[in-house]
Amino acid sequence: MPESSPSFRILGPARLSGEVKVTGAKNSALKLMAASLLAPGTHTLRNVPDIADVHIMSELLVRLGCTVSLNNDVLTIDVPATPGHKAEYDLVRKMRASINVLGPILTRVGIAEISLPGGDAIGSRGLDFHISGLEALGATITFEHGFIIAKVDGRLKGATIDLVFPSVGTTENLMTAAVLAKGTTTINNVAREPDISDLGEYLISMGAKIQGLGTQTLVIEGVDSLKAAEHSTLPDRIVSGTWAFAAVMTGGDITIQGGRADHLELPLDKLVASGAVITSTPDGIRVKMDKRPIAIDVATLPYPGFPTDLQPMAIALNAIADGSAIVTENVFEARFMFVNELKRLGARITVDGHHAAIAGIKQLSGAPVVATDIRAGAGLVLAALVSEGITIVEDGFHIDRGYPNFAEDLRSLGADVTRI
Ligand code: UD1
Repeated sequence: MPESSPSFRILGPARLSGEVKVTGAKNSALKLMAASLLAPGTHTLRNVPDIADVHIMSELLVRLGCTVSLNNDVLTIDVPATPGHKAEYDLVRKMRASINVLGPILTRVGIAEISLPGGDAIGSRGLDFHISGLEALGATITFEHGFIIAKVDGRLKGATIDLVFPSVGTTENLMTAAVLAKGTTTINNVAREPDISDLGEYLISMGAKIQGLGTQTLVIEGVDSLKAAEHSTLPDRIVSGTWAFAAVMTGGDITIQGGRADHLELPLDKLVASGAVITSTPDGIRVKMDKRPIAIDVATLPYPGFPTDLQPMAIALNAIADGSAIVTENVFEARFMFVNELKRLGARITVDGHHAAIAGIKQLSGAPVVATDIRAGAGLVLAALVSEGITIVEDGFHIDRGYPNFAEDLRSLGADVTRI
């Protein structure tokens, strides 16, 4: 945790209305940044959000020998002919996505030493799929002094890999390793999150040969070298989804500029079932609600299923909904940690394994709570908006990792929110 972390002070209840602009996706931008290591020269990434995690990844790239600058939302990365190969604990522990430099460094330099990552307190988050996939491509992997050390003699070699689970990070690491491997790599049961296609398109513009983006199988024909490229990050579907839930919970009317309904089909269907009116606008989505939401059952699953990153928002909505619902978490084992915080606001929730049963009440009541991860933090802020009185959400640095200008955006939509 940083030495001083902001808290968010919210005076509820609030009704949110107006327009909000969604920036580039955190989970895409970080992977694009890591993938830039694959080609020397000057890369330009557009629509990059100004959030803490982007600064952490920038620092990591700088330590690997790159020169990085962020001007407004344009990130320029100068990658040297031979990047460094070691990512130290002080940076990696702050952000799980640091593991995404493993594939690019290994395939380019022949050795990568990456400190074992930290990240959110949402489960064990193993690396076994990453490791077995890279081993299938010919890497030798060992663990020493808290580092994962991956080596290859010469180039990685194309192989067929069957993932036992469509892991986002594993798909990305294997894709970025295989693009410079010798021969063809086929990866079955890959993750299909829009972030994967975004990364794939960037790699293709660098000269990579990839087929099957958006499907369950990727076929990658390795090339000898890649060249620096330019790419625009896709809009953040989780931030868009957070605003959609905020509109529904507060009986509001929010136009989400840049929001992509095609990346949020299931969550938006759930909100319609809850009573919302959702329409497409020329550049986004409008979400309108004029009554108390109806409770909605939700089960998280890999894309195109309901995103685990919107699970806290689903629980928060059900906490004030008309009726009872079950929310099932199928992706991360420990993602109900924030439920105890929500209960401090008066929510009636019973957790049994990976199921949470929620009995809706009309209004929550403000209290001090603690954010346990990025999305739990955002979920608690939404719950605070429908709580009577003052809620302080502590450890707001988690929220800063994923939501640029969250407090300002909330204020512009009519909420009484301050950072303290
Ligand atoms: C990414 C996102 C995160 C999102 C998640 C699922 C980033 C920075 N983070 O995380 O916001 O919630 O996708 O959409 O993009 N697993 C293993 N072994 C492995 C790899 C994963 O057991 O080697 C497990 C994890 O513990 C978890 C599940 O697989 O239970 C899914 O993980 P994964 O899809 O890899 O998520 P991340 O890439 O870590």
